Amino acid sequence: MSIAYLDGAYLPLEEAKISPLDRGFLFGDGIYEVVPSYAGNMVGFAPHIARMKNGLAAVGINLDWSEADWADLCNRLIKENGAGNLGIYLHVSRGADTKRFHGFPENIAPTVFAFAFEIAPPPVADKALVHSYKVSTDRDLRWERCHIKSTALLGNVLHFQQGYKQGHGETLLFNANNELTEASACNAFIVKDGIVSTPPLDNQLLPGITRHIVLDVLRQDGTIPVEERTVTMDEVASADEVWITSSSKEIAPVIEIDGVAVGNGEVGDVWLAAQALYTAGKFNY
Ligand code: PDD
Repeated sequence: MSIAYLDGAYLPLEEAKISPLDRGFLFGDGIYEVVPSYAGNMVGFAPHIARMKNGLAAVGINLDWSEADWADLCNRLIKENGAGNLGIYLHVSRGADTKRFHGFPENIAPTVFAFAFEIAPPPVADKALVHSYKVSTDRDLRWERCHIKSTALLGNVLHFQQGYKQGHGETLLFNANNELTEASACNAFIVKDGIVSTPPLDNQLLPGITRHIVLDVLRQDGTIPVEERTVTMDEVASADEVWITSSSKEIAPVIEIDGVAVGNGEVGDVWLAAQALYTAGKFNY
């Protein structure tokens, strides 16, 4: 039976349990390492721990563990699990919160989990014995699949926190071409000269249900023109109104971006009309 470590205790892996409100589970809000170990000798321990510390610092998880603390943990797992060919899995999440909220919680302890699993014996430098591979190729899309409502939300969480730490309620996001994509947990719209525009659906944004309903109720009503098209950063800056939409916010007016008023700095009339149509029509969806 494999012995694992969880938040200060060594226990059988099957008995290790974390809260479903752990941000590692809800948001992918954590950092991990896998350190190989052969007959009790780890490979690359120091650089693995250095990378983990860099990752923790990069995402703002404060864990006060020294390299010696990590070494004690790894050596104990090796001892408990038979010192064969092992992968030592180390995982630190931001911890278990009492609610689901993208911004970093104050005063919660990170969750520290580790276990050992069997890995293949190390390759020997012998052409006849080495295991060789056949592989495929693909374009690297790893952080470009924003149309999937995945729980791998660390990127979103870091963008939300960027605004949140300045006292803001959301962060608008732009691609490398300075085109609006969405916000960290909302879709985004602009209004200019009475026309409502929102970026078209592609891999850069979530196909929000609220976005869909907003577009549909506006099109059905017909009095406010709507467009799905590329929206530039300059257009956002000069918009009369900016909205963010999500299931929990419905249509939320944005009155200030980076300290600069949107339009005249007041909640707009087009928002009022759109939210009224949304309120009237939303239960039809
Ligand atoms: N967020 N874009 C992103 C990245 C989102 O996470 C969400 C939703 C939306 C709006 O989608 P919808 O209209 O279907 O709620 C757009 C939810 C509310 C959240 O993570 O809390």
